[in-house]
Amino acid sequence: MKNKNVLITGGTSGMGKGAAMRLAKLGARLLLVGHNQSKGEAALADIIATSGNERVAYARADLSVLAEMRRLAEFTRVHFDRLDALVHAAGGVFPSKRLLTEDGVEFSFALQFLARFVLTGELYEQLVVAADPKVVSLAGGGTVSGELDFDNLNGETGYRWHRAIAKDARANDLLTLEQIDQYPGITFYNYGPGFVLTNTVMRNAAARIFFKTLARPLTRSPESAADDIVMLLTGDYPSGLYDKRLQRNDPPIWADEAARKRLWDYGIQLATRTAQEPAKPVSAET
Ligand SMILES: NC(=O)c1ccc[n+]([C@@H]2O[C@H](COP(=O)([O-])OP(=O)(O)OC[C@H]3O[C@@H](n4cnc5c(N)ncnc54)[C@H](OP(=O)(O)O)[C@@H]3O)[C@@H](O)[C@H]2O)c1
Repeated sequence: MKNKNVLITGGTSGMGKGAAMRLAKLGARLLLVGHNQSKGEAALADIIATSGNERVAYARADLSVLAEMRRLAEFTRVHFDRLDALVHAAGGVFPSKRLLTEDGVEFSFALQFLARFVLTGELYEQLVVAADPKVVSLAGGGTVSGELDFDNLNGETGYRWHRAIAKDARANDLLTLEQIDQYPGITFYNYGPGFVLTNTVMRNAAARIFFKTLARPLTRSPESAADDIVMLLTGDYPSGLYDKRLQRNDPPIWADEAARKRLWDYGIQLATRTAQEPAKPVSAET
């Protein structure tokens, strides 16, 4: 990874930060993104002090908002002329109450589907000129069973945090499979780390109880999941959906071409809502 340019959304805590720390030690040039400025600055200082790599920067952006996704893309294009890897780790477990972003998109879906759709598309030109560009999305890796409910993508009915997570995971399965077709020349991984004890899980009372009781024997550390992310970035794994053993899963049977195209079209419909808005630079700390 030495001298490779890597953008890590959610690189300020949990698995994203773990991956950032490892990549910094390997000599990569990193741009980390999070929403909380003081947390981002603390993560940046820790990574630079521990790795001894000073070519790490932090940019604050709220990636649930379309205008901020575009501002980050613009900032990344200025920061890096070429992007060797893009890691989508911004996300988490959110409260049970359904929230809408200023674009009218359900918050979790905006952050964990739309931001990945928009950022990857916006950064395609920077990725495709790299020697071996890779994109990793942290989601379910094809392990979440059940079909995506196209009639409830914005979570209008029966919203619960765990249903939102499952919906986002299924949407990411379809998105990765479609990106593999749409963007030849880039390797795409949808990685499902399993149950990982991170801040986001511990902040949600119901998730915390589930992770500490029923799911406890299945939980693992953010560090071991971060190792997997680095393995995907440095190894020769083909594009696809990967589980926590780094085994490639077959696409779910319902993830056919029609479903992929339908979600892709929905992504375009959401993304073009505020397409006319001018891009403003995001703030960055180095
Ligand atoms: N933990 C698990 O068991 C598990 C399992 C499967 C998939 N995943 C997925 O893996 C990803 C990483 O999760 P994690 O468990 O490592 O969580 P985490 O430790 O809470 O880290 C989440 C990261 O996302 C950033 N973030 C949150 N909201 C944001 C926003 N609106 N705009 C920009 N950045 C934002 C956070 O930064 P700020 O706090 O500064 O905003 C933080 O850097 C998530 O997409 C999650 O759904 C997790």
